[in-house]
Amino acid sequence: MEKLVSLAKRRGFFFPSSEIYGGIQGVWDYGPLGVALRSNVKQAWWRTMVELRDDVVGIDAGILMNPRVWVASGHVQNFTDPLVECKKCHQRFRADQVSGPRHEDDGGEFTEAQQFNLMFKTFMGPMESSATQVYLRPETAQGIFVNFANILNSTRMRPPFGIAQIGKAFRNEITPGNSIFRLREFEQMELEYFVPPAEEMKWLDYWKEERFNWYLGLGVRRENLRLRAHGKDELAHYARGAFDVEYQFPFGWSELEGIAARGDYDLTAHQKASGRDLSYFDDIVRERYVPHVVEPSAGVDRTMLTLMIDAYREEEVRGEQRVVLKLHRSVAPIQVAILPLSRKEPLTELAKQVEHQLRPHFRTEYDDTQSIGKRYRRQDEIGTPFAVTIDFESLNDRAATIRSRDEMTQVRVPLDELLPALRERLA
Ligand code: GAP
Repeated sequence: MEKLVSLAKRRGFFFPSSEIYGGIQGVWDYGPLGVALRSNVKQAWWRTMVELRDDVVGIDAGILMNPRVWVASGHVQNFTDPLVECKKCHQRFRADQVSGPRHEDDGGEFTEAQQFNLMFKTFMGPMESSATQVYLRPETAQGIFVNFANILNSTRMRPPFGIAQIGKAFRNEITPGNSIFRLREFEQMELEYFVPPAEEMKWLDYWKEERFNWYLGLGVRRENLRLRAHGKDELAHYARGAFDVEYQFPFGWSELEGIAARGDYDLTAHQKASGRDLSYFDDIVRERYVPHVVEPSAGVDRTMLTLMIDAYREEEVRGEQRVVLKLHRSVAPIQVAILPLSRKEPLTELAKQVEHQLRPHFRTEYDDTQSIGKRYRRQDEIGTPFAVTIDFESLNDRAATIRSRDEMTQVRVPLDELLPALRERLA
């Protein structure tokens, strides 16, 4: 983890937020490469979950919502963690995280656990009172449930169908940590899939497989992924079943994504609290019902961390060590680096022409600083699958070298065949 966090900072993936003021816990800022990787992750999710399906549509709801939403959803009452305070140093901890030697110096005595609500609060409008208090959403899911009738009425979607959303969520986690694993501000990618009640378990089964395979498709190694069924004691009272996609992080197996069968809990709760009808009338079987929901819920930041950890390698090449991020070509922040061997004209002009030609087709970067060895090292570390090197010979033979990050092979390709050659390799 330490090595990865240092690489992330050195190369511009992510930085502690507000670092020049000493930071702020549980918030990280994304640099140029980080923002590219995140955007590719979100794009990959949206492509698979929305664009390539005829049964899912997208929405983008507000982060601030009517506070009655969070009463109805149960978050005001139940979205809590047990909190204890050390009787000596008065630091506060999550009750399930205080075992172990860490707190023994202070005598290991804690107060009784109290329930601490994880929702951030703020005020809407110019008055600060309990009547104007609103919450920053702790999940994107509720924005979907409260729009269920809007989508039903404005689209042709009929169960089984889904509504997808990507967006920020906020949780006042008692113990954020492990860099971007547990954050107080993060981003979720959630699907609420509405089904006839009798089909709920079938769809839970379907989505757990789909979601597991999505990570494999992004190149995550199978041996580091597993699906874990929730035990009866872990399930929310309304849940019919749930699975976690877990990844083997350096700090142990942990949740990457949750897939849950939520029954009709959410729609029924909002129906009751709002007084609006959130049922669906199936005019083929002439039956009215409140759809049941299967919810795959993933984290953007956690997926990004997973991809980086899984891709991180230290390799020995000809007696030298290289660090390489073997990111999948579909998510790599830069896909093709264009590297002129020297900064001299007319080499630069030719290299810029090549970059100009490739930029509309791939995520490219032009780099003419430092020695070629250092530039290769940098591209390896940021996960660029291919580099195109332009040398003095290129001026004569109108060809360039494609260097592959993973095989470290170099092949000479005529300039006018570069585009198809790279297309084939990046397809
Ligand atoms: N609507 C269901 C829901 O929000 P969750 O298991 O609490 O379920 C889903 O969250 C996913 O959101 C998690 O699997 C994780 O990827 C991400 N997530 C949740 N809390 C997070 C946090 N504090 N920091 C980063 N990601 C988080």
